[in-house]
Amino acid sequence: EPQLRSRIHSAVARDPLPHQRADRSPQGWKIDPYGGTPRYEAVQKLVATRDPASGALLGIDALLESLKESTLRGMGGARFPTHIKWAAVRSQQSDTKYVVCNGDESEPGTFKDRELLRRAPHLLVEGMVLAGLTAGATKGYIYIRHEYHEEIEAVEEAIRDARSRGACGDDIFGSGLSFPVEVFVSPGGYICGEESALLEAMEDRRAEPRNKPPFPTVKGLFNQPTIINNVETLMWTPAIYLNGGAWYRDQGVNGGQGLWFCSISGDVRDPGVYEVPFGITVRDLVYRRAGGMAGGQRLKAIAPSGPSGGFLPTLIPRNALPKTFVEKYLPEGGAFFDILDLPLDPDVLRGMEGMLGAAFVAVGEQADLVALALNLTEFFRNESCGKCVPCRIGSQKLVEMLRALKAGQLDREHLDLASSLGQTMILTSICGLGQVAPNPLLSLVKYFPDDVDAYLDRRGGPPVREFSAFET
Ligand code: NAI
Ligand code: SF4
Repeated sequence: EPQLRSRIHSAVARDPLPHQRADRSPQGWKIDPYGGTPRYEAVQKLVATRDPASGALLGIDALLESLKESTLRGMGGARFPTHIKWAAVRSQQSDTKYVVCNGDESEPGTFKDRELLRRAPHLLVEGMVLAGLTAGATKGYIYIRHEYHEEIEAVEEAIRDARSRGACGDDIFGSGLSFPVEVFVSPGGYICGEESALLEAMEDRRAEPRNKPPFPTVKGLFNQPTIINNVETLMWTPAIYLNGGAWYRDQGVNGGQGLWFCSISGDVRDPGVYEVPFGITVRDLVYRRAGGMAGGQRLKAIAPSGPSGGFLPTLIPRNALPKTFVEKYLPEGGAFFDILDLPLDPDVLRGMEGMLGAAFVAVGEQADLVALALNLTEFFRNESCGKCVPCRIGSQKLVEMLRALKAGQLDREHLDLASSLGQTMILTSICGLGQVAPNPLLSLVKYFPDDVDAYLDRRGGPPVREFSAFET
């Protein structure tokens, strides 16, 4: 097996770390069936189904069925069904298979994996082992963002603890089955979390995304079949296997299914990480969980999948909503939909800006959305790996145009050009970064014309500069 070279990290020890405290999994977190004290009952339940004659784990089908029933989908933001991914790798004929946990959380406004890693790392180790045994994988890697020092330490300690209890490594709970797990520290950078760039980094190459398909389930790490799951996705699997798929699924509200960890930030009184049901309304999330708007300001916009999904206004014009949404939520007419009534569920939000990711940002009335869009576009421009032209050049052009807008030097014709450039980037960029980079600008133009006009109206003349495609 090729040798992996994880970068050395400098862990900063603070005593006690969150996972070492008695209250490490906050009371009532449903994701943790053990209340913070690792017991690895889900792994024990699975290995107990081993048929002594054939050596097969007869419980795998039931485990996959419970994942299917639960409706558990990828919690990094893309929401691909977990059971399909696990079954796909299981069905591959290969002597070498891997499980990789993507803990390179870098989306602006997303910090829920960090909280989970530091408070309940034992659930991640257990989820990795369940995935590994299900797929018949040979090894598991937990790939963690390099700035997450305490979390790296917490996970390494959890791996040691699990090994000492017989829950991972060799001869798991005396079954004769093995599944070693180790940490791999990400080299650093937003693109290092894109799953195929992550694989490149692990193979000690420059972290640039690969073209897909083939998906990692077929050709992943070292071209072998690989399950890649987000931290939270793996961490839900022990509780789902122990309690049943319906237990998880039925905790959704307002038509949503299941639970999720939401990082909420922006202009709220109590930003943080909350375990909430899918389908929770924006009103409930902002005003009940997160304590309402800071300084008593009114809500101006939300970014339901973090800023990369774009912003939605407090009142969405009826004609800007997908038809199916209007039929369900505005059946009796009405020119606008009140965003506070919006159920946060991936299915409800499909087809709208900001489909629903791992972050939720609330923007107050005092915010300058043009400045915010510029800041975010600069972030994507800076983090672009430069592999493909639409993203490399396009993100730079968008920054220039937003800067010009902010300086009062852009006219509407050039704004239209910026929007069309954004659409081209969405259609032609290789990976998600280039496809989401235009979203802040596009949502601004679509939903916040007054904010844009305030800058356009101050231009006082024709644009002072042209935007040539060959400038950068
Ligand atoms: P994607 O939709 O292309 O794929 C999602 C997952 O499903 C991947 O693991 C992919 O390999 C798998 N998949 C898709 N089709 C498949 C098939 N036919 N067979 C087997 N596997 C299949 O999304 P992508 O580009 O992996 O991720 C984009 C998402 O990541 C966005 O929703 C974005 O919000 C989120 N994101 C999250 C970040 C974070 O820090 N949590 C950072 C950046 C982006
Ligand atoms: Fe790199 Fe951007 Fe192209 Fe993705 S879209 S491969 S980040 S240049």
